Amino acid sequence: MNPSKPTTVENSAVASHTTRESLTVTDNRTGRQYELPIKHGTIRAMDLRQIRVDEGDFGLMSYDPAFTNTASCISRITFIDGEKGILRYRGYPIEELAEKSTFLETAYLILYGELPTRAQLDDWTFHITHHTFIHESIKKFLDGFHYDAHPMGMLVSTVAALSTFYPDAKDIFNEESRRKQTRRLIGKMPTLAAFAYRHSLGMPFVYPDNDLSYPGNFLNMLFRTTELKYKPNAALERALDVLFILHADHEQNCSANAMRNVGSSHVDPYSAIAAATAALYGPLHGGANEAVLRMLMEIGSVNKVPEYIKRVKAGEKKLMGFGHRIYKNYDPRAKIIKRIAYEVFDVMGRNPLLDIALECERIALEDEYFVTRRLYPNVDFYTGMIYQAMGFPVTMFPVLFAIPRTAGWIAQWEEMLLDPEQKIARPRQVYLGHDQRSYIPVEHRGE
Ligand code: ACO
Repeated sequence: MNPSKPTTVENSAVASHTTRESLTVTDNRTGRQYELPIKHGTIRAMDLRQIRVDEGDFGLMSYDPAFTNTASCISRITFIDGEKGILRYRGYPIEELAEKSTFLETAYLILYGELPTRAQLDDWTFHITHHTFIHESIKKFLDGFHYDAHPMGMLVSTVAALSTFYPDAKDIFNEESRRKQTRRLIGKMPTLAAFAYRHSLGMPFVYPDNDLSYPGNFLNMLFRTTELKYKPNAALERALDVLFILHADHEQNCSANAMRNVGSSHVDPYSAIAAATAALYGPLHGGANEAVLRMLMEIGSVNKVPEYIKRVKAGEKKLMGFGHRIYKNYDPRAKIIKRIAYEVFDVMGRNPLLDIALECERIALEDEYFVTRRLYPNVDFYTGMIYQAMGFPVTMFPVLFAIPRTAGWIAQWEEMLLDPEQKIARPRQVYLGHDQRSYIPVEHRGE
């Protein structure tokens, strides 16, 4: 994007009102007016810099803690309309992908911008399948973790460790190198995740099985015991694949931003993915589904739901799994996940927490408190119950998020690297600390 130069209109009435793609700002400190171009519904923060009181003034900045109204990049990957409850990857509605695609095909779409041809899909699947093994030394590395180490901590560390095994990954502006690291990362994340899980159980690692699908092999590495050949349950395999599709990308969230930010220093992608995975580890990002489960267990039974809702409305509690910074409508992923929940319960038995969840949802969708605040179920409301029914401990929930999100992180990273407007990410600050003062030796500082 090449913005047109902003113009300054000093001490003059701004041109009569015509429809121009610009914003006129009056600096009341000086009386000067400025016309800033508007492009794609944004003004450029750097265009504010010309707004100065005098020559010595640094120029105006915008202050936006937590980036709630700042676009940090131009992206062509994921579109979200939170008002209408729309989520699309590369233009394709999430509902269609969840119904008709597979995770590997969706990952290809997110990464390369188009749905693959049959030959491209076969080639992609072959390469991902043949990059699932990890170096034996990584196994030794995993063995060093304490028996109760959190699998997310193990995942963050081992994915970072991969960078030491693939020094060629530093060649980030080499397209072939990026392609190779992409295959390795998407192929190996489930293996690292499954090995971390097996380690926490004290069970032997299960090597990847190239005959199985991406989610089928993951289930194999997690759950195989004595059988010679693991046969994943088809309904669970498909449910996991759909959950992977739904979690593959979500534009500029905390971990995608971490990936872009850390990647902007031109570090290798394994180190940047470790940073993104660490961001996902936090309870405000990848950990909310665990909070939903804990809440449902705390409520305990359907007849206690009205009492709990009362406490939520009194501001004592939050209805976890409800509300979203972007979605002010039903999260489109939550609708699909609710359907999958029933499919998984058909195989694994009904999660007793489901009835409590359904009652929470029923009351909340009718209650004025939630309706006026536009609080709807989000992606996390049902995922925890599904994962629990499938036999995962809560510590594995964010890991199950990180595996598919790797595709989104790499796509965001690559888009950032190839964007000529991007540089090392380096925000400004508003400094309100001490002005200059002189050092006082410790013996003169008093108590
Ligand atoms: N339960 C009860 N009240 C809520 C909830 C909730 N879950 N969420 C928001 N509200 C209320 C707020 O108290 C506030 O009320 P007020 O106007 O009377 O003060 C109003 O709704 C607006 O809420 P904000 O906090 O301003 O909304 P924000 O966009 O900052 O927060 C968030 C979004 C963090 C997701 C919030 O809705 C929340 O905490 N939800 C529960 C946690 C959760 O489910 N997180 C998962 C999000 S999905 C994901 O990250 C993958």
